[in-house]
Amino acid sequence: MRWARHAVPAAAVAAVAALAARDLLQREHALLRNFPLLGRVRYLLESVGPELRQYIVAGNDEERPFTRDQRRWVYASAKQQNNYFGFGTDNDIEFTPGYPIIKHRTFGRAVPPSAPTVGHEVRLPCAKVLGAPRGRARAFRPESVVTISGMSFGSLSGPAVEALNRGAALAGCLHNTGEGGLSPYHRHGGELVFQLGTAYFGCRDDRGRFDLARLKDLVAEAPVRALEIKLSQGAKPSLGGLLPAAKVSAEIAATRGIPVGRDCVSPSRHAEFSDCDSLLDWVELLAAETGLPVGIKSAVGDLDFWTELTDLMRDTGRGVDFVTVDGGEGGTGAAPLIFSDSVSLPFQQGFSRVYSTFAERDLHEQVVFVGSGKLGLPDNATVAFALGCDLVAVGREAMLAIGCIQAQKCHADTCPTGVATQNAWLARGLDPRSKAVRAAHYVKTLRRDLMKVAEACGVEHPGLIDADAVEILGGRTTSTPLREVYGYRPGWGLPSAADRAAIVDLMSLEAPQGGSATPSPTARR
Ligand SMILES: Cc1cc2nc3c(=O)[nH]c(=O)nc-3n(C[C@H](O)[C@H](O)[C@H](O)COP(=O)(O)O)c2cc1C
Ligand code: SF4
Repeated sequence: MRWARHAVPAAAVAAVAALAARDLLQREHALLRNFPLLGRVRYLLESVGPELRQYIVAGNDEERPFTRDQRRWVYASAKQQNNYFGFGTDNDIEFTPGYPIIKHRTFGRAVPPSAPTVGHEVRLPCAKVLGAPRGRARAFRPESVVTISGMSFGSLSGPAVEALNRGAALAGCLHNTGEGGLSPYHRHGGELVFQLGTAYFGCRDDRGRFDLARLKDLVAEAPVRALEIKLSQGAKPSLGGLLPAAKVSAEIAATRGIPVGRDCVSPSRHAEFSDCDSLLDWVELLAAETGLPVGIKSAVGDLDFWTELTDLMRDTGRGVDFVTVDGGEGGTGAAPLIFSDSVSLPFQQGFSRVYSTFAERDLHEQVVFVGSGKLGLPDNATVAFALGCDLVAVGREAMLAIGCIQAQKCHADTCPTGVATQNAWLARGLDPRSKAVRAAHYVKTLRRDLMKVAEACGVEHPGLIDADAVEILGGRTTSTPLREVYGYRPGWGLPSAADRAAIVDLMSLEAPQGGSATPSPTARR
């Protein structure tokens, strides 16, 4: 029986080795590919987590930036699993000042859908035609109100960018390149918004100056549908960036147009313009030379910039086609704590001030408004639409959909799921094709939920939800309409009458999905 004494441990070792090999070779879970066996401990803890947490550690709504409930909703949506929650809300609605309540209508124009389940697809184009009011040659109606926010190749791994781009193609939504240039990973079918940051990566000359000819070449050979000039982002406004030499691989250098293995610095200001006047000249130049709609992305601090910009747009006829407002709660790969925590206004306050500045000058119907800052969740996105957003751009929620576990190590290059790292071993764990499907499921589910909410409010499209449809709770006994909170005048927050009619027509082309039972003979219509 001596052989048996050795056979049992040997069998155990073989089983463990087989399990490790299986983890290494499977493509579904990046964490297991990168950390064979060890990753299983996390899944085990996750599975018994809810029971443990009821007695110790944090509640479902306590973690930040995204609570466990929010992450669970994204994960389940991305996997097309049941994303419902049982037994009613566990949010502290009555005692949370600032909590938004969406007001449904008993009898509305739109018929509520009968299939609110995961996997149910809806077409949800933008309610405005981007670039049309300014007559841009390549104006178009974005096919999806949900878009993927700018996150560079460099801060995200190549496979992560590829997964998002493939996912964008599958979901029919726009994918913003971020300021790190247009990489081979961005060329997998998803249509692009090309972002121009202060370093003009991908369209700069050898001395780092903007190069129009290079931009035109880039736009000609990739599916770029719009250009976005990045002025700032909510998580680190007014800051430039530094990609250390160690991270400047040959691939990154080629994408950005910089030397390999040398520190890569992004200045904090643009060199092509120095005030609103020269900014608008540059916008018009880019639009004329490429035919594309051109917009700006900015966080919101001092309002002088916005009043000057809109005064000039009103008085000179020049103008941006879209404005992306990024909330101070927005994400980044890396930023000093003080900037992430305290510089620039949170989304609702920043956006409503910018929107009002345009609306006071009667410019709001000529511009597509894009919002970002935790708007990849249906409740936040609904409030954004009520405030006048036409599109939402989702960043970290899309990262969650492709495997991010909110380990918050993006700045350290040790991302365990291969999403935000240039470490080849870790990035290899992320399988772009299967994660692309998850990204697409997530985008489609968010669209589906937005449509359900619109129909509950009695309108045909989320862009038609207005500021009267939302109230902000002040605690248990008070609430204020969103319109009053932000001083919106009647009609603000909605597209023009012509755009409203056009989007209702477009949405009516879809086959009706719900309705009612046949009325009884005594029913009065
Ligand atoms: C890893 C990472 C990289 C980012 N890179 C850029 C960038 O290159 N350009 C930019 O304008 N914003 C960048 N952002 C900000 C996002 O585009 C977005 O505005 C912000 O995260 C808010 O959206 P969210 O709350 O859905 O993440 C980045 C964010 C993250 C998390
Ligand atoms: S480091 Fe953490 S938070 Fe950042 S992408 Fe990776 S898993 Fe997500």
